[in-house]
Amino acid sequence: MTPGSCDGAPCPSSEPADLCWHSVLPTAELEPRMLRKVRVAGRYVLLARLEDGTLAAASVVCPHEAADLSEGTVYMGAIDCPRHHYLYDLRTGRNRHPRDVYPADLAATLAPLPLYPVREKDGWIWVGKQRV
Ligand code: FES
Repeated sequence: MTPGSCDGAPCPSSEPADLCWHSVLPTAELEPRMLRKVRVAGRYVLLARLEDGTLAAASVVCPHEAADLSEGTVYMGAIDCPRHHYLYDLRTGRNRHPRDVYPADLAATLAPLPLYPVREKDGWIWVGKQRV
């Protein structure tokens, strides 16, 4: 695949892939339990470092009522939303709470948190976006 564009901007990645990788933050600036809000191709993305060092990238907007998740807390591999304390698993995007206390029919209506491809390379954190 030839380099395309990312939301109208030239793709900075020279790799032949479906994803356009953006370097967004030096890897040393995200320690365990930290959150950062970064801009990727014109859109905000939430970066999180889980307690075990795993890196995650997700929508910064809470699926419940759109609170800014960068003001939340990393808690047991999940993001705890600062507004109503819904918990979203940062490895799967799945809602953990209140899913765990809701009846099955209500739990099925809980939207997941969108996740993005993320990796570390050459001392940087990179977020992948689909080429357009
Ligand atoms: S806005 Fe995030 S839990 Fe309600």
